[in-house]
Amino acid sequence: MLSLRLPIPIENTLITPPPKSNNKNTYNFSLSPYLHSSYSCNQANRFLTVTNVAIHNDGNSVGSADTVAEPFPEELNAEPLPKHVAVIMDGNGRWAKMKNLMPSAGHQAGAEALKNMVKLCASWGIKVLTVFAFSTDNWVRPKVEVDFLMSLFEKTINSEIDIFQREGIRISVIGDSSRLPKSLLRMIEYAEESTKENSKLQLIVAVSYSGKYDVAQACKSVAKKVKDGILDLEEINEDIIEKELETNCTEFPNPDLLIRTSGELRVSNFLLWQLAYTELYFNRALWPDFGKEEFVEALSSFQQRKRRFGGR
Ligand code: FPP
Repeated sequence: MLSLRLPIPIENTLITPPPKSNNKNTYNFSLSPYLHSSYSCNQANRFLTVTNVAIHNDGNSVGSADTVAEPFPEELNAEPLPKHVAVIMDGNGRWAKMKNLMPSAGHQAGAEALKNMVKLCASWGIKVLTVFAFSTDNWVRPKVEVDFLMSLFEKTINSEIDIFQREGIRISVIGDSSRLPKSLLRMIEYAEESTKENSKLQLIVAVSYSGKYDVAQACKSVAKKVKDGILDLEEINEDIIEKELETNCTEFPNPDLLIRTSGELRVSNFLLWQLAYTELYFNRALWPDFGKEEFVEALSSFQQRKRRFGGR
């Protein structure tokens, strides 16, 4: 039997949130053809060993074999629907604290909320979902939390990849990859490559990303083209810069709707350029508690907005 050893300190043991329904179906932690070379290390009892983990299907998991599309909510109109929804998934830490748990438990529950969101977006015809998973400003967090998050990203991508392929979901990751663990980079490369032809929903995960970082790297790229004689200085305009932003991985780079959970009213260095005409929606729910009802409310609010893009 294949066994998977996750480099997660035992004090941050992954916690599967309690099932929300009575559905007792389980599915095995799927092993994609990707090889987990980095998971082979085992340092005595420091790390949790996971052997063919059976994860309870809580009815929200995109990964469950019995995934069914969510019917379109009666409360919403078919149009207008945002093509691109961006989310600042905030409040994992507070969610865990309220339950006397470690921050890692909040992030784990946050990953479940994200899977649910992916399922809803894919079911309701939203084309792009961009989520802020880790900011360039988050590197200052305790190492144990950063390591946990990196492992969680890798594990979650791995566990969902087969389902993404089956459901027509493309995954893209944006951000400063130079600081990411090699094993996560390999997983990202594999996931992006194997889902690149999918077109139902594009999930863009921003890891080690910030809006300022993105604008700076785009400027660098434009400057290099000028230096190399590919581009004339006079040719630089907004379109040229936009094409160099990392959101150039999608057909719809500018979100129509930004959702931020946990009651904070800021954009925290997320997609700064791309948010120029985005409708903002703030909700008090902590990210792990943000579910279908809250998403319907956000979409309903979006449907009541009058978007003028500077015109009348
Ligand atoms: C902010 O909450 C959240 C994060 C820094 C991490 C977000 C990560 C996930 C939701 C995990 C799933 C992601 C993927 C791609 C699998 P916080 O910890 O800052 O919350 P707090 O403000 O309450 O402390």
